[in-house]
Amino acid sequence: MSQRPAVLVARAAFPDIVERLRAHFEVEDNPADQIFSKAELSAKLAGKAGAFITGSERIDAELLAAHPQLRAVCNMAVGYNNIDIDACNARGVLATNTPDVLTETTADFGFALMMATARRIAESEHFLRRGEWTKWAYDMFAGSDVHGATLGILGMGRIGQAVARRGALGFGMKVIYHNRSRLAPEFEAPLGARYVSKEELLRECDHLVIVVPYSPASHHAIAAAELALMKPSATLTNIARGGVVDDAALAAALRERRIAAAGLDVFEGEPKVHPDLLSVPNVVLTPHIASATVATRRAMASLAADNLIAALTGGTPPTPINPQVLPLKA
Ligand code: DGY
Repeated sequence: MSQRPAVLVARAAFPDIVERLRAHFEVEDNPADQIFSKAELSAKLAGKAGAFITGSERIDAELLAAHPQLRAVCNMAVGYNNIDIDACNARGVLATNTPDVLTETTADFGFALMMATARRIAESEHFLRRGEWTKWAYDMFAGSDVHGATLGILGMGRIGQAVARRGALGFGMKVIYHNRSRLAPEFEAPLGARYVSKEELLRECDHLVIVVPYSPASHHAIAAAELALMKPSATLTNIARGGVVDDAALAAALRERRIAAAGLDVFEGEPKVHPDLLSVPNVVLTPHIASATVATRRAMASLAADNLIAALTGGTPPTPINPQVLPLKA
């Protein structure tokens, strides 16, 4: 009997999904959910043909060079800025991600975070918990309306469009967006979405939602100069990736009330959070949980497992990032 391929499950995962992988592979898993350093990850990948990873594991050219036996890296995330795709292509390594299964869940969260930000929900809850609520007041935690306001979307991919649908169809918002390319009219028309320049987006929106993938091109796409274009009453919500927003510049803008408030699910250098963000009141902070419903996290894990099984057993991986490397070397 030929030996079964060995794979690494780099983080703790749903036990039944790990069991599904065990039916095909020799699995080394990580139920203690240890976060591996670069050297530890490399040591764990010794002899592995594939890896089930999350956005926390960095797969770079050096790692791939050290493991020529590696054939597939399957991300349990739609974003894949943790994987050097050019290096994967050069070495014939398949990379996969988990699109679609998290779109609606992530858009729900983005909308909720935007609403919590606009209506000052976290800030007012902290006030109440501190025992500071002694009377009703006409201006107490007065925020800004979401319904009928102008929703600005930076990055109009699947999740951006799902946020736009919620805004336009559920809350009567005017939708403007900026994206690398303009959507086809059949996507714009049902939402009344208007394609604008990035500058116009920032100047006109009441609520900015950032959903653009991270890449060197989108690094600090929102920094001091961009924040300066926004209305003082505007809010900013980031559900994309840390690094798209300059967190230090954002904290300064929030402190000086150059914009009204922000909602952040992702951070530069997470899980560390810029200390200035922790000390400003007008920001809602969540620990990268936009896709975190039980059903969606299961769907993501299952899809990552499907990709790994197909990649290493001669099947067709459902969601490859670089299908041009298929079929994989034996
Ligand atoms: C994703 O899928 O990219 C989410 O950010 C979870 O990492």
